[in-house]
Amino acid sequence: MFRIEGPVRLAGQVDVRGSKNASLPIMAAGILVGGKTTLKGVPNLSDIAVFGQLLEELGCKVAKTDGGDLCIDSTVIDNPHGDYEIVRKMRAGICILGPLLARCGRAEVSMPGGCAIGDRPVDIHIRGLRELGAEIHLANGYIVADAPHGLVGKNIFLGGPFGSTVLGTANVMMAATLAKGKTVIESAACEPEVSDLANCLNKMGAKITGIGSPRLVIEGVKQLSPVEYQVIPDRIEAGTFMVAAAVTAGQLRITNCRLDDLMAVVDKLRGVGVTVEAADNGCVVSRSGPIIPADITTQPFPGFPTDLQAQFMTLLALADGNSIVVEKIFPDRFMHVAELNRMAANLRKEGPAVIIAGVKRLMAAPVMASDLRASAALILAGLAAYGTTTVQRVYHIDRGYEKIEERLNSAGAKIVRENV
Ligand code: EPU
Repeated sequence: MFRIEGPVRLAGQVDVRGSKNASLPIMAAGILVGGKTTLKGVPNLSDIAVFGQLLEELGCKVAKTDGGDLCIDSTVIDNPHGDYEIVRKMRAGICILGPLLARCGRAEVSMPGGCAIGDRPVDIHIRGLRELGAEIHLANGYIVADAPHGLVGKNIFLGGPFGSTVLGTANVMMAATLAKGKTVIESAACEPEVSDLANCLNKMGAKITGIGSPRLVIEGVKQLSPVEYQVIPDRIEAGTFMVAAAVTAGQLRITNCRLDDLMAVVDKLRGVGVTVEAADNGCVVSRSGPIIPADITTQPFPGFPTDLQAQFMTLLALADGNSIVVEKIFPDRFMHVAELNRMAANLRKEGPAVIIAGVKRLMAAPVMASDLRASAALILAGLAAYGTTTVQRVYHIDRGYEKIEERLNSAGAKIVRENV
């Protein structure tokens, strides 16, 4: 657990690590190569370690170099089976399905189970892979997919009830790189992590155009080759640090941060009275005036990201008036609401929305983390709240933020990690 003394005013510099959500599908892309992939800038997180384990069970060799690069050797894949024990821990495990099918002609991957942020079906992944010619059925909780004669390119619409799908696009795009002929993915996810994956695949020899747009065109090739690739910085981590500066009325210089990936976030921050200035390799974020209330609706990129919804709720909890947050990607992603209320926030959930009546102060309390971004929101609340906040189950935060307490402490936070 974390014991957090507040309130503090953060001041200093924090460096953003490589993107978790870019690294995971790029690690899966290593399956396609049949050789060594060397990835630079992969963060040191429990989710990355678990994904490495998943690749090792397939037959890959996964190792860290002395310089911190992650090497995936996929020369041998003799067990195209994604086990329930691993996939249940980490839903991103589903994105080995497309690459395994393309490489081995068959795959068996556990159907991911429930998740703290709500229902997370994979029907669109399956639909897309079926369109490429895979035969897929469900057996004993596993997705069993076969493409004995290889995959064949096609025009595929990949939209769903909540818009595009990030890992669904990743899965189908990876499978299509080795399919016969041309695949067009309409309503593809435009998230920077999908573009990073596409850029890595192109470096491996794939032929993908339309990167960053909702229409990806993929000309199938016979094989992909080993590469060295640097993953992009984590925009969600950067956004979390931005809110940390804002909620503590502090000033942070955030390095290794691409503002172009955070346009909706920067726009909202400025709208609530936070100063964000571009600086060399990142930005400087500060706040001196009151927090102005705002309305936020989460959307697929380039809209406001669902992965920063909880953190912004902490900020708006202290706004000078009423705000509304509407969650359009995961309508049940509100586990942090009740915990923030335990810290004297005034939040009321109404269906997929939360009405926030700003309060003058948050008060420390013992709280419980339920998922990765909810735990980030509680830590931010602990920095601003009066007294000692304890956040239990911080293993959730270790999935997505590398030693967050050390990095925040170097900018003036007072967070102690304790074993319970
Ligand atoms: N959806 C379907 N059917 C599908 C796939 C998705 O209905 O087959 C729905 C989802 O239920 C959701 C919406 O489509 O309502 C979008 O979900 P998406 O598939 O884009 O989510 P994901 O790919 O499973 C990734 C990130 C999440 C992030 C979302 C949205 C990774 C490893 N995960 O998940 O990150 O919230 O995109 O941007 O990249 C996190 O890092 O904390 C996290 C949860």
